[in-house]
Amino acid sequence: MGYKVRFVNPDRNYQMIKREIDEAYFEVMSKGDLIDRQHLRSFEENLAVFVGTKYAVGLNSGYDALHMSLRAAGVGLGDEVIVPAHTFIATCSAVVNVGATPVLVDVAKDFNIDGDKIEEAISDNTRAIIPVHLSGYMADMPRVMDIADKYNLVVVEDACQSLGSSINGKGAGSWGLTGCWSFYPFKILGGYGDGGAITTDDPDVALFATRMRYNGEDRETGEYHGHGFTCLLDNLQAAFLDVKLRYLPDWIVRRKQIAERYRQALSDITDLLLPHYERPGFDHIYQNYTVRAKQGNDFSEHLKKNGVEVLTQFRKPYYRHEGLGLVDRGFPETEALSREVCSLPMNAEITDEEIEYVIKTVRSFYGL
Ligand SMILES: Cc1ncc(COP(=O)(O)O)c(C=O)c1O
Repeated sequence: MGYKVRFVNPDRNYQMIKREIDEAYFEVMSKGDLIDRQHLRSFEENLAVFVGTKYAVGLNSGYDALHMSLRAAGVGLGDEVIVPAHTFIATCSAVVNVGATPVLVDVAKDFNIDGDKIEEAISDNTRAIIPVHLSGYMADMPRVMDIADKYNLVVVEDACQSLGSSINGKGAGSWGLTGCWSFYPFKILGGYGDGGAITTDDPDVALFATRMRYNGEDRETGEYHGHGFTCLLDNLQAAFLDVKLRYLPDWIVRRKQIAERYRQALSDITDLLLPHYERPGFDHIYQNYTVRAKQGNDFSEHLKKNGVEVLTQFRKPYYRHEGLGLVDRGFPETEALSREVCSLPMNAEITDEEIEYVIKTVRSFYGL
């Protein structure tokens, strides 16, 4: 259906920065700089500075970033890795695909892993924990790091949805052994196809990923240091992402303004839980503006029927998909929020009129 307000507008976003994106394209194409060239290095340097780490290594996707991180940490067969029960499936699949066993933990009211429930999931085989910073709001990293220290666990941050967020000024992706990033087109920093990266302070991890993304090869000596993968971030994508990274701070400001407008206009609706958590030091950058509506599908269908494109990730929790063979230990919060989640349009290119239309449509559902 033709929506009046789309969830994201990549075409409109392109028009906002067309001149610089086109320049980047023509520069890369006219030089023929396609693989592992200076645009990739430049983007990696700028990303590392933005996140607050020593290194960034460009990869093909957020999934690759998670997978590579677990391999760099030596996680494999016989190991258990703690992951949240509410996340994008790639968090869990990366664990399975290195031969380890995911152990799911329920989330809290902020959609992130529940710090009170982590320790009961730890066994003698637990090697790592992957906190996910969902929708632009970080998991309780001081708590996660304390638990990881206590049990000697590796921390891999799935920061794919939270570029630019922080706790007490320390950026997402700079707490764990690695931060994992996705530049999937609809992310806050989205490319024009798949893309990803890890950030890290550990030179060995950075070197491992730099070799393994290129089939294990050291590009200078030609030596293979192990059986690797083909999962390098394209130089062209890196050139585009480098342009967009310069705009990101302004785009985050715009997202916060939109979130504030939604809050002002919708906080009187008692059947609607808004994503404002008021936790001192926690900075929300609103990759997504995910509300919980008591009326679940009726609410999201009303919005769609009236021309507002929304996302309902995820109505069916991933551990309920039989083909994945996962263990459902009972996750009441995930079950409850899965029935209720609905992400409203939130992006840097949306107009004020469109936001007002979303608000009007939400309010009309409640007869207001
Ligand atoms: C929380 C989370 N983890 C991992 C990923 C995987 O990223 P990609 O799609 O780039 O593989 C995504 C992106 O969709 C995500 O949102």
